[in-house]
Amino acid sequence: MVDLDQLVSEAQQSFSSTSDAVALEEAKAKYLGKSGLLTEILKGLGKLDPEQRKSEGAKINAAKTAIEGALNQRRNQLADDLLQARLSQEAIDVSLPGRGRGAGSLHPVMRTWERVEEIFHSIGFEVAQGPEIENDWYNFTALNSPENHPARSMQDTFYVEGHDAKAQSLLLRTHTSPMQIRFASNAVKTHLQQYGNLDDMPDIRVIAPGRTYRVDSDATHSPMFHQVEGLWIGKEVSFAALKGVYTHFLKTFFENKDLHLRFRPSYFPFTEPSAEIDVAFPSGKLAGRWLEISGSGQVHPTVIRNMGLDPEHHIGFAFGSGLERLTMLRYGVDDLRLFFENDTRFLSQFPA
Ligand code: DAH
Repeated sequence: MVDLDQLVSEAQQSFSSTSDAVALEEAKAKYLGKSGLLTEILKGLGKLDPEQRKSEGAKINAAKTAIEGALNQRRNQLADDLLQARLSQEAIDVSLPGRGRGAGSLHPVMRTWERVEEIFHSIGFEVAQGPEIENDWYNFTALNSPENHPARSMQDTFYVEGHDAKAQSLLLRTHTSPMQIRFASNAVKTHLQQYGNLDDMPDIRVIAPGRTYRVDSDATHSPMFHQVEGLWIGKEVSFAALKGVYTHFLKTFFENKDLHLRFRPSYFPFTEPSAEIDVAFPSGKLAGRWLEISGSGQVHPTVIRNMGLDPEHHIGFAFGSGLERLTMLRYGVDDLRLFFENDTRFLSQFPA
């Protein structure tokens, strides 16, 4: 019979002399593998008579348990060593100075947003925000946008599945103009509730900045972009007031008293007459070119009616300007996609 104690101590030595897991698994095969020494001995049991088989069997099992124990111990040891080695290799030198987090700063489009709010606030405009998921009424119909308006098509608009409580179809608003209706009709309703008539209704003077969405993507269009809507409704709000307000806004925004503005006839369903506002810088890289900056116009009588007002008594103007466009012109950015790539090499050029 083989000396089992001898075998066990040989196995123990062999295991403890291995220096990594691969070598250990190889050493294990010699004893516990399919044709390992212990397996061979177990096979020999069949030749013994029952009494002997029982006592030898017990001894062999004890030896097997001992060898397996030694194997597991070495496995754990090697795993521990590996961990310790990694820990000391990747150790953190706590005496080093901290790296800090770096200071964040406002996104350039958000700066424009805040700047626009400040300027309009300073001349008596309220600031309002509306929902980005709009319904068909506010986004199109109430704004006198005809059934066949191109912005309604599936290519232009992100539709949202389902309908709202009034069975209106839902979409991501394609412009901030729905806020004209929302804000004005709310002001009218509130005034009526309080006074019962609109005789002394104060002027409605509001801007509504926010996110807007269209199926559009290139160097000057992004599927999500920002606009600011402006609205002033009163008893005697003329087109001249639009010119005055917008001229003041642009000159303040660009910090340039010598800007030129041009109101170029245009068409929007919700204004009549409508104008595109162009700006020209007197000097610098962009000098000498008319740059389109905003849509605008006198609010269409149908829209005034949809606000709950009588176009015979109320009149006013509206405008809608792109915040990215304003930002690009102010900072000389020539690709709109830079705003949305989150590249810190770009963003860090606008420190706090
Ligand atoms: N909503 C228009 C657009 O997104 C912009 C616009 C034009 C807004 C004229 C206005 C306006 O308020 O009067 O293209």
